[in-house]
Amino acid sequence: MRESIILITGVNGEIGHGLVRSLHDEGISNLIGIDLNTPDDFVLERTHDCLIGNILDKNLLERINAQYEVEAIYHMAALLSTRAEFSPVIAHEVNVDGTLNLLDLAMEQAQSRGKPVKFFFPSSIAVYGIPSLDEKNRVGAILEDDFRYPQTMYGCNKLYCESLGDYYSHYFKRLSATDSRGLVDFRGIRFPGIISAHTLPAGGTSDYAPEMIHAAAKSEHYDCFVRADATIPFMTMQDAIEAIQLLMAAPQSSLTKMVYNIKAFNPSAGEFLNKVKEYYPAADIDFVINDNRQSIIDSWPADVNDDQARKDWGWSAAHNLDKAFADYLIPEIRSRYEQS
Ligand code: SER
Repeated sequence: MRESIILITGVNGEIGHGLVRSLHDEGISNLIGIDLNTPDDFVLERTHDCLIGNILDKNLLERINAQYEVEAIYHMAALLSTRAEFSPVIAHEVNVDGTLNLLDLAMEQAQSRGKPVKFFFPSSIAVYGIPSLDEKNRVGAILEDDFRYPQTMYGCNKLYCESLGDYYSHYFKRLSATDSRGLVDFRGIRFPGIISAHTLPAGGTSDYAPEMIHAAAKSEHYDCFVRADATIPFMTMQDAIEAIQLLMAAPQSSLTKMVYNIKAFNPSAGEFLNKVKEYYPAADIDFVINDNRQSIIDSWPADVNDDQARKDWGWSAAHNLDKAFADYLIPEIRSRYEQS
């Protein structure tokens, strides 16, 4: 008998950490992680095993396929939007070919188990591309089917992988005699910018918000690379993880979409800084605009409509902006930097 496991790719990344924390707290002990880098002790202590390697390495995935029975895959490995603009071809390989490899592993596993494998895919507000700032300001909260014209390689990759998820779930090899429909149970969320108290993002374009608060907590200077009026939605890591757990636990019959918008709060960078200053009045933060990164933020929506997630799987954020700071970010960040 192969050991039954839950697989998390990109386990040493930001959402990987959040997931490991939460699944481990729930008593789940059969987590296997994959990451390019050796994960830190926090992750190593809370997982059954971590494999160091690349999701593009088919031999690595084949070893997992042979050794384990995979119940669910949380596929978090990706190159984020800013980094992807510097290496678009590598980003495409990691974000698209890597996802294809994991979807294929899910299908092989589901076929051999004879039951579905749940597949969680973190998509992003980067799949949207609003042509002008005027239009962005005019349209307000947008629906899942609106403005899917991504302007970044990362956004293109995420949007296409949503379609791959649909293909593997509903149309896989439809000309063959075997019916594979429903064997891959693909579920995705288009995340806004995520702010963790415990980790910092690497290579994203929404990084200015988490970077502001962590710099202020460490009494470091920070140059915010977008204008004070730049606005996109954000949420706390705690809410992001709660959303993943809720969506993954929902009965398939209640889901009407493959991929859902979710939201919590959407301050401008200036409003976010004012909030940071309520807790760290001496915060030393300037606005030094990077026009290219600003133009990416300008193409992302200021707000999204998440009614369908609320309706289908009971989504609602625990943290608005005030609660995010008062109940999560400030207490956790203070204890983190006081300890170190
Ligand atoms: N936070 C991501 C980024 O900035 C978007 O999903 O790349």
